[in-house]
Formats: sequence, structure tokens, C-alpha cells
Amino acid sequence: MKTKILMVCLGNICRSPLAEGILKSKVNPEKVYIDSAGTGGYHAGCAPDERSIAVARRNNLDISTQQCRQFDVSNFEEFDHIFVMDNSNYRDILSLTENEDDKKKVNLILNEIFPKENVDVPDPYHGGEQGFENVYQMLEEACEKIAQRLHLK
Ligand code: 4NP
Repeated sequence: MKTKILMVCLGNICRSPLAEGILKSKVNPEKVYIDSAGTGGYHAGCAPDERSIAVARRNNLDISTQQCRQFDVSNFEEFDHIFVMDNSNYRDILSLTENEDDKKKVNLILNEIFPKENVDVPDPYHGGEQGFENVYQMLEEACEKIAQRLHLK
């Protein structure tokens, strides 16, 4: 059985599509299924933000065919690990949990590299290009740690 991992942010157009693409590039696809979703549904059906597509492309990743979708409570059953990008996402997803098993699956992604510090991946949506570069570098480091810790390579 594959390990199933879900990346979550607010819009599913900036941060979680990058996290999905970066982690996918680091794992054995026969061992792992990776998806992403947003706590909000405003961008459902859309491609990722052009600036996320561009920073991924500069790093030789193509995330342009991803399609945004909203998180669904059925995802607790479906996924083994749910990585959220910030504390607001964490609160939103925790409010949808129905039991301890659901809660245990949810973690802030940057706790992989800054354990227990509860650091946010900053939302780059209203900022410039540099914000997307910074997000990319944080996610690159966190996804490398996830791939190693969960033996996904
Ligand atoms: P994301 O960024 O959560 O990293 O996808 C955002 C994208 C869109 C909006 C907010 C955050 N928005 O308000 O439309």
C-alpha cells in the first residue's frame, strides 16, 4: 500500500501546489501518492498561480497541470499524513477533525525542519517574486526531511 500524503494551504494555488510538486520529485512514485488541497474553495478547478509555476520551472519542476481543489473531510480517512502550511490552516483543518486519529495526521510542514516551533510558511499571494523564492526554499528543505524521515525515496 502506498503512503498517502496531502499538502494543504488556504487557496491551493501558491504554497501547497509547490509542496506537492517538490515532494513528488523526491520520492519513489510506487511507494507514495501525493496530493494538495485548499481550506478555501475560491480557486477550485484552476491551475496554480503563475508565480508558483514560474519558481517551480526555474527549479526544473512542472506543476502547471495541477488542478486546485478544496479540502474535504473524507481526506482524513484517505490520507496518512496531512501537512499544513501555516497556523491558520492548522486551526481550520483541526476544526474539521472528528477523532484523535484524524488529529494525529495533521502537522505544520515547517515543524519538519524547526521541530515544535510552529513556524508558518508565509503566504506569498500578495507579495512579489522573492516571496515565492523564499517559500520554494523552505518547502524544498522540509520536503527533503519528509522524504527521508518517512522512507519515501
Ligand atoms: P495559498 O495562497 O494559500 O498559498 O494558495 C493564497 C492564494 C489565494 C488567496 C489567498 C492565499 N486568496 O485570497 O485568493
